[in-house]
Amino acid sequence: MSKALEGVRVLDMTHVQSGPTCTQILAWFGADVIKVEFPGRGDITRSQLRDIPDVDSLYFTMLNSNKRSITLNTKSEKGKDIFWKLVRHCDVLVENFAPGALDRMGFTWDKIQQVNPGLIYGSVKGFGPGPFVDFKVYENVAQCMGGSASTTGFDDDVPTVTGAQIGDSGTGLHLVAGILAALIQRSHTGEGQRVECAMQDAVLNLCRIKLRDQQRLTRGPLKEYPQYPSDEFGDFVPRSGNASGGGQPGWVLKCAPGGQNDFIYVIIQPPGWALLMGVIGREDLITDPDWATPEVRLPKLDQCFELVEEWTLTKSKFEAMEVLSKLGVPCGPIMSMKELGEDEALRKTKTVVEVEHPERGKYLTVGNPIKLSKSPSEVGRAPLLGEHTEKVLAEIGLTEEEIENARLDGAI
Ligand code: COA
Repeated sequence: MSKALEGVRVLDMTHVQSGPTCTQILAWFGADVIKVEFPGRGDITRSQLRDIPDVDSLYFTMLNSNKRSITLNTKSEKGKDIFWKLVRHCDVLVENFAPGALDRMGFTWDKIQQVNPGLIYGSVKGFGPGPFVDFKVYENVAQCMGGSASTTGFDDDVPTVTGAQIGDSGTGLHLVAGILAALIQRSHTGEGQRVECAMQDAVLNLCRIKLRDQQRLTRGPLKEYPQYPSDEFGDFVPRSGNASGGGQPGWVLKCAPGGQNDFIYVIIQPPGWALLMGVIGREDLITDPDWATPEVRLPKLDQCFELVEEWTLTKSKFEAMEVLSKLGVPCGPIMSMKELGEDEALRKTKTVVEVEHPERGKYLTVGNPIKLSKSPSEVGRAPLLGEHTEKVLAEIGLTEEEIENARLDGAI
């Protein structure tokens, strides 16, 4: 079966997490992703957080599957010549170097366009044009500057970053959408274009409901926030703990036997109140005017959840889920990484996949969460450093002698 992006060649100048997330998805969709890495050391994540000495880290292998790797010193003269050949050969270039790094190597957008007017040039940077445009950025900086940290955690505690890599992987995902849109536009116009995603912008996009709440705040307190009904709201969106971001109240409730992840998230929709009260044996509160409607419950949501928690404490999180979801009450146990890694359903759908690597043996990775019915993803392993250098250079027209000379010069 052919793949959605078969025939699309990607010159992958990405490193660390944000850019590799983007190109990994393009590779899963069938693009030929050629990852360019500095000779000798490669992407810095190959050696970061290693769990096995001298073997590419899980950090690297879980972000670079299905790609080919070539080594190239793009600052050397021969390396630059090869880079331009690759630019002619490819449809898409993706990079997430520090601002200006490609320009400093002489690879300006003007020149790239002249050499290959059809090339789509995707970049991740920390910030868009503005006072911080030249700054380097990592995940948590983006979470802090995109509004996530100020709105995550509890009111009486410090701003909190989330474990979901919304700055890095979140921006990489946005970049995928931009590149695919540009590829479709190119199929009509024949022209390439620049696709730029700033990590601050991507995080803010993912926090859009908090900017919604900022505007609602000017018209009165946020009634679904745990701070309500006190009037202690300032002039900015506070941290709302585990409150639901939507119009339906939700909270994390303790379950048996009381371990660190023995919790279930429960949402109380208006029709769910009667069902929940039935389950916990408080039928009296179904019609009691002090409890019966969402409006009267709003100022005492904490008490509502305490009532339900008295019941969840007597069940394991999966038992509670079984009972509640049968009634149509939206809920979900807090899943640990251990449980997710072992989850049979996720393995069946290949969202969690075991991959064989020549140096590390088997490792677990997250497969493609986007399922195309006519382009299913086969998640392969990440390449070894420079594994495909000779093959790719031959494909772009270098002779064996030229390849040997490039090697002697240290360009590859
Ligand atoms: N050949 C020759 N030189 C190469 C090369 C290659 N194949 N690959 C990289 N380099 C050079 C770069 O040109 C740069 O040189 P310069 O400093 O002379 O311009 C140098 O290696 C270092 O690259 P840089 O991007 O500055 O790496 P860094 O480790 O200092 O910074 C980041 C890392 C992630 C902070 C930075 O790249 C960044 O801000 N990127 C954009 C935002 C981003 O993606 N952040 C999230 C990362 S998950």
